[in-house]
Amino acid sequence: MEYDEAAADRLEATYLGKDVIAQRADTLARLAIQPGEHVLDIGSGPGFLAEEMARQTGPDGRVTGVDLSPIMVARALARASCGWLDFLQADATSLPLPDAAFDVVVSTQVAEYVPDIPAMCAEIARVLKPGGRGLVMATDWGGLVWHSSDPARMDRVMKAFEPHCADPHLPRTLGPELRAAGLAVPGISYFPIVNTGIGDGSYSRGSIDFVAGYVKDGGAIPAAEVQAWRDDLHALDERGEYFFSNGRFSFAIAKP
Ligand SMILES: C[S@@+](CC[C@H](N)C(=O)[O-])C[C@H]1O[C@@H](n2cnc3c(N)ncnc32)[C@H](O)[C@@H]1O
Repeated sequence: MEYDEAAADRLEATYLGKDVIAQRADTLARLAIQPGEHVLDIGSGPGFLAEEMARQTGPDGRVTGVDLSPIMVARALARASCGWLDFLQADATSLPLPDAAFDVVVSTQVAEYVPDIPAMCAEIARVLKPGGRGLVMATDWGGLVWHSSDPARMDRVMKAFEPHCADPHLPRTLGPELRAAGLAVPGISYFPIVNTGIGDGSYSRGSIDFVAGYVKDGGAIPAAEVQAWRDDLHALDERGEYFFSNGRFSFAIAKP
């Protein structure tokens, strides 16, 4: 998944909506960042989570965000509001960062896009200090519930969407992968998203455009069928019959 300016705009709009704001609050509560801590955000994207974590570490701490996308890094740097928050372009599987440098490592909605999960987990374990902690959050698209007037068409569209990430079912295997890298997994939690409408900053509003663009551009589904899928969701919304649910699994991690 590569980001151009339009895709970055779309992601930012979704990530400033109420559902992803609530998800960030859940992540922050689980991390319980303390003043003075050194924090790494892998796949920091637009930098919204990193920015909030920097407020929590304060100037005695440090937050570093890394992301593969130069567009995301440029946007996060332009937005960064304090001197102890920095962003750099790097791959999650090969971090240009020293061993045992961070008290906390977090990565939300990134690992499912990384083809080499053992390498990413090894990097997380390498850069965490002994006694350090963190969280890796990922979606399992098998948890999707999305009402449609044509369920067979919904299934075709979502099947065609699966290759948008490296592993649409990563949470099923992520625990053993993290443990194989030498990390403990003290808990796994689930953050649900439920939308009964597509207005007002709902997560699935952005998903409709993202899914439609991906499956249409990939040629897997004819453009007319994609448009019909999309029109149906908007028609359901207008009739008050819209229903979408998906969620994210958060794996707490600790380095012994
Ligand atoms: C869905 S966004 C999530 C952004 C951010 N973590 C958040 O939750 O707000 C996924 C991000 O992961 C980045 N990404 C994907 N593969 C990556 C990799 N191998 N290394 C670093 N970043 C990666 C993308 O460029 C994108 O910014």
